[in-house]
Amino acid sequence: MKNLRLELNKAAQFLADGTMEAWAPKVKAAQAALENGTCPGNDFLGWLHLPSAFPASLMEDLKQTAAQLRELCDVIVVAGIGGSYLGARAVIEALGNSFGWLMAESHRPVMLFAGNNIGEDYLAELCDYLKGRRFGVINVSKSGTTTETALAFRLLRRLCEEERGLDVARKVIVAVTDAHRGAARTQADQEGYKSFIIPDNVGGRFSVLTPVGLLPIACAGYDIDALMQGAADMEKATGSDVPYEENPAERYAALRNALYAAGKKIEILVNFQPKLHYMNEWWKQLYGESEGKDGKGIFPAAVDFTTDLHSMGQWIQEGERTIFETVVSVETSAHTLRVPHDDANLDGLNFLEGKRVDEVNKMAELGTQVAHVDGGVPNIRIVLPRLDAYGLGQLIYFFERACGISGILLGVNPFNQPGVEAYKKNMFALLDKPGYEAESKAIRERLAR
Ligand code: PA5
Repeated sequence: MKNLRLELNKAAQFLADGTMEAWAPKVKAAQAALENGTCPGNDFLGWLHLPSAFPASLMEDLKQTAAQLRELCDVIVVAGIGGSYLGARAVIEALGNSFGWLMAESHRPVMLFAGNNIGEDYLAELCDYLKGRRFGVINVSKSGTTTETALAFRLLRRLCEEERGLDVARKVIVAVTDAHRGAARTQADQEGYKSFIIPDNVGGRFSVLTPVGLLPIACAGYDIDALMQGAADMEKATGSDVPYEENPAERYAALRNALYAAGKKIEILVNFQPKLHYMNEWWKQLYGESEGKDGKGIFPAAVDFTTDLHSMGQWIQEGERTIFETVVSVETSAHTLRVPHDDANLDGLNFLEGKRVDEVNKMAELGTQVAHVDGGVPNIRIVLPRLDAYGLGQLIYFFERACGISGILLGVNPFNQPGVEAYKKNMFALLDKPGYEAESKAIRERLAR
């Protein structure tokens, strides 16, 4: 199998000669800190060797549970948010048919997502859709107490019991949560739901290669063995024993930190395949939550090209020169579609006759690269040979490893997220949650000012 490829020259050219080489000792020290568990947040390094050490029995259990859910359900709702949501959605959308949700596919359940917002209309419309359908729920929450997920699960569980009866509901509700703590664990144990454990030492945004991501992905019908194999191969390719010159995660981490030090404060992750939209979303959380702290951190933004060239293209080409872009490019598309001849040629597109649509897309990609580099935007390219489970496993692990290294280089703890608690405290105070009486008065006063 071919590994993903990193092309850095169109970004490194924005730095002084020798910059990349100068980062090597710091990068190797960061890798050693990861490997030896001496970095900040070292109680959350369980993801580091997960792909190569994943228990075969757990893989089997995941596949069997997925098979049972698929047998009993036409629709599976995955309830979860942030790290308990984005990875599964990213892989499922990247591997799926773009219009799969419109098609009756006997071998695949419709995969839906909830618990990632508090939209009343969203939840009401979801419940309406599920009424009368054979649906099941995967409740994913490490803490088991996240409001968005718990709220959605409360509604879904009640509906599932009403629609399918208590006995079937207990078979088609599965929990992925902490081994001992949290409401999701207690509820799963009390109700006898099948459950999977999120390891203590794997944080939410690094958890896609645990049951958090693997169960929904297997339910959707995709090859979790190939996904894990891709990740395991990338684990090898990015190990601390691989020389800096050949190590894609080390070089990506070094380059983005060098660009940041040179004033490039925003990184835009770019795809040229609509199916990668949620991969962008997953990446934004991974890097945003890992690096944005202590008043530091590259701001991770994301765009879908060529769509967003018609909305964000102007800003990227000529706005403040504080950005660089990282393009995830898929070398070979799965289908072949050629531009047909048209006698009238009113659109003037006959010059494209016979060309593959993907060739047009690739020329858009290369044309954009040159335009952006000319406009002062450093351009990193990550080339995936194809959009398959193996390649996505590589991409996921590559980004995770590089993120760990990059956060350490930046001088932050890449594995905590203290900032995400601030809004929750205020929301609970405003909702008069017991225990928040003092905060409740204070926040109302502040809102009235
Ligand atoms: O990365 C994180 O830790 C967060 O994004 C969490 O994954 C998210 O808040 C969901 O938390 P939980 O799985 O506890 O419901």
